Amino acid sequence: MTTETRPVASPLDPVALRADFPILDQEVRGHPLVYLDSAATSQKPTSVLRAMDDYYRRDNANVHRGIYALSERATADYEGARVKVARLIGVSDPHTIVWTRNATESLNLIAYSWGRRHIGRGDVIVLTEMEHHSNLVPWQILAQEKDADLEFIPIDDDGVLRQDVFEVLLRLKPKLVSFTHVSNMLGTVNPVEEMTRRAHEAGALVSIDGAQAVPHMPVDIGAIGADFYSFSGHKAMGPTGSGVLWARRELLESMPPFLGGGDMIREVHLRRSEWNDIPWKFEAGTPDISAAIGLGAAADYLMALGMDRVRAHEQELVAYALDVLPREVPGIELYGPAADQRGGVVSFNLPGVHPHDVAQVLDRFGVAIRAGHHCTMPLHERLDLSATARASFGVYNTPADIDALAAALREVQALFGG
Ligand SMILES: Cc1ncc(COP(=O)(O)O)c(C=O)c1O
Repeated sequence: MTTETRPVASPLDPVALRADFPILDQEVRGHPLVYLDSAATSQKPTSVLRAMDDYYRRDNANVHRGIYALSERATADYEGARVKVARLIGVSDPHTIVWTRNATESLNLIAYSWGRRHIGRGDVIVLTEMEHHSNLVPWQILAQEKDADLEFIPIDDDGVLRQDVFEVLLRLKPKLVSFTHVSNMLGTVNPVEEMTRRAHEAGALVSIDGAQAVPHMPVDIGAIGADFYSFSGHKAMGPTGSGVLWARRELLESMPPFLGGGDMIREVHLRRSEWNDIPWKFEAGTPDISAAIGLGAAADYLMALGMDRVRAHEQELVAYALDVLPREVPGIELYGPAADQRGGVVSFNLPGVHPHDVAQVLDRFGVAIRAGHHCTMPLHERLDLSATARASFGVYNTPADIDALAAALREVQALFGG
């Protein structure tokens, strides 16, 4: 089934979908598992597990090298996965998809390869206050090395980026603007097309961290118009070890390699080498072949569901959570914007209870959430919080999961005298 043939009006049936995710069919501490941590990593459907298993059982061989059937099949599947992922994110040229290990590696690749060549003393890079550490630390390292300046678009009290301040920062003529498509803590969905257009008008390149967007909503990279786009496969139904960097062809062609070694070269002499074409120039050494194949199967799975339906389902869950939690769990503090402006993420606190204690008690009821700073320490500082608890949703979650969360949170309150 393709995105095109499935009627948009028919909603996802998460109960039926759960059968595709064998891990969900288990009890944890005597309760049915309620998995609410998909922003950290998604669960994997059987089709992804099978694609990887098939590769190891039938086709296991190195790619691009062997002139024999197994290697040819492995190469065809490895490169075929690139085509599937390109389709998922609206990219017409699959060779502009570089396999990485995760979004973190993709962002580091940009900072090391493009950044070291193009960023110099006094140059400005604009980031935001809501970035994951993966989209902060690589730029901090680069800025320290090159004596460049980092500037930050602040958030307002609803957790929405201050576009008026962005306008002012663009007057500094930044070389690069790098920001997240969707915040992993607040859930805020940023206006990526509009921000990209304005950054380009100011002469900046644009890098978008799509780790929390690609798994949860239609992403059309062609329509966004950015220069770089990164995401992790493991949050998008794919295996760990699979990640993607997309960049405009001219940029990838002009960027120096990130790592050197086998596969990324065309010719090697004792004192010099010539690089392979893109994307292989950025894929040194034996790649994670099964991870790429698994991510290809994940892209097929998501496209068959229809990303517009995935988004609609998760928005319904968020709206339900934002409605039910304050009513059922008196005193709960919720962070982030209204349901129509956010992805499937709800961060919260119970006053007087540390989020780690919240998560630990929830675990006793089989409810898996995340507690801590979610790799967004500066954002927590800005909100004057040391930590939060976070529930995040995937296609397999139901309103009943949110009811289970609310019931377990009341148990936390009863235990801690809330
Ligand atoms: C917005 C965002 N960016 C980047 C990352 C980093 O992803 P990974 O750890 O897979 O590299 C995450 C992970 O939580 C994220 O939520």
